Amino acid sequence: MKRRKFLLGSGAAAGALGLGGLSLAASDATQDLVLQPASYRLRNRLTTGMVSLYPDAPPPVLYGRQGDVMRLTVRNTLPDYTAMHWHGLRIANKMDGVPYLTQMPIGEDDSFTYEFTPPDAGTYWYHPHCMTMDQMAHGLTGVMVIAEREDPGFDSEQVINLRDFRLDEEDAFLPAYTARGAARAGTFGNVQTANWLTEAVYDHAAGTLVRLRVVNTDTTRIYKLHLEGAEAQIIAWDGHPVEIDLTLPTTDAPLLLGPGQRADFAVLMPDDEGQSVALVAKFPGQKHRAMARLRATGQSTARDMRELRPLRRNPVLRPELNQAELHEFVFGWTTEGGPPNDGFCGSLGYSFWSINRTPWPGDAAQGTGPLAVLEQGKSYVLRLRNESPNLHPIHLHGLAFVPLKSNLRALPPLMTDTMLLLKDETIDIALVADNPGDWAFHCHVIEHQKTGLAGFIRVV
Ligand code: C2O
Ligand code: CU
Ligand code: CU
Repeated sequence: MKRRKFLLGSGAAAGALGLGGLSLAASDATQDLVLQPASYRLRNRLTTGMVSLYPDAPPPVLYGRQGDVMRLTVRNTLPDYTAMHWHGLRIANKMDGVPYLTQMPIGEDDSFTYEFTPPDAGTYWYHPHCMTMDQMAHGLTGVMVIAEREDPGFDSEQVINLRDFRLDEEDAFLPAYTARGAARAGTFGNVQTANWLTEAVYDHAAGTLVRLRVVNTDTTRIYKLHLEGAEAQIIAWDGHPVEIDLTLPTTDAPLLLGPGQRADFAVLMPDDEGQSVALVAKFPGQKHRAMARLRATGQSTARDMRELRPLRRNPVLRPELNQAELHEFVFGWTTEGGPPNDGFCGSLGYSFWSINRTPWPGDAAQGTGPLAVLEQGKSYVLRLRNESPNLHPIHLHGLAFVPLKSNLRALPPLMTDTMLLLKDETIDIALVADNPGDWAFHCHVIEHQKTGLAGFIRVV
């Protein structure tokens, strides 16, 4: 990995993120993403056996621009197979990074060049879709920022990548999952981090407008979040601009951010030097904890929220509800099926979960049909029903959708790619099937995904 080159080329904006972010100097440059072993001090001691794109740092924030081509060569130096997925990007199916479904897994010393033009601006992320449990649990989850064509007028940005690690007393990795966890809510980590730090603090100038991009890239945890210490506003949800007034989450009514989900906040930094804004999380049986702080520095520039230009709507087609055909999906347990056939992509060895009562037979299973076939250009309503007591962040690749209604709560019509289903919840979502291909459709609790709660939807 030519890290130095990337750092030199990263410019001021990327440097401000404190993440060694890559940014494209020219839109036709190809970036090399080298999957490799890494070590990092997550807690007290150096944790080895991590997976990243650097030997000693978290996976970088990848920057692109709406409507500009991106070329990313994934080089695999690991003995295991891989494939890289760009979560939330509505791009061509063959660039989606799903093993066997859209491409063959990438072996050791092999590479694959992904080339796509993001149609939408916003906060997205990337992670492997082969050896998913193993590589994600060991660190390979990174954020992607696709900039708007028109600058909304922030002074700076802050990316926060939230995720847990499962470490023992020596800060060595514990097994990434347990069968008990996989059959229930998932196996939780015991070290919660923001950008791989347990106490992340970032400096931003007093009185400035910061775009805070919060991404949950954890394999299991649904984060309960709120902000303290600043005037703020939620401006985007799962990549897409929020077009309605959302009340800010509070201690008593925190934001539920499931694995795979993102929230963008506009934050007005405090006026007084040293004051900080905290992104606070609540964990079961624990007090609240600041996952990250933004600390005000220098003399206040006294900016005003109203100086921000509203984000432009992404070019997502709005579904025609009166014409829409209904498809139903039920998510639940299964007693059927042996271990999924995941080919070179790592099986957990069990089938616990199902969609429409059928456990996913595996990434590499032959002759597995789609869960639904949608006609390109038509509108559809998908009814998602959770018949299990566990929560499921249900994710659809390649398409964006809007929630219509829930049997349990009022849902704001926020465009998304990942819908968190609560216990006993049924949610109708609507979309226009405008992107042809086989699109993975699964729970983003990776243990659920890898033990049956997966499938795909075909758009023809
Ligand atoms: Cu974020 Cu199928 O994945
Ligand atoms: Cu995805
Ligand atoms: Cu699930």
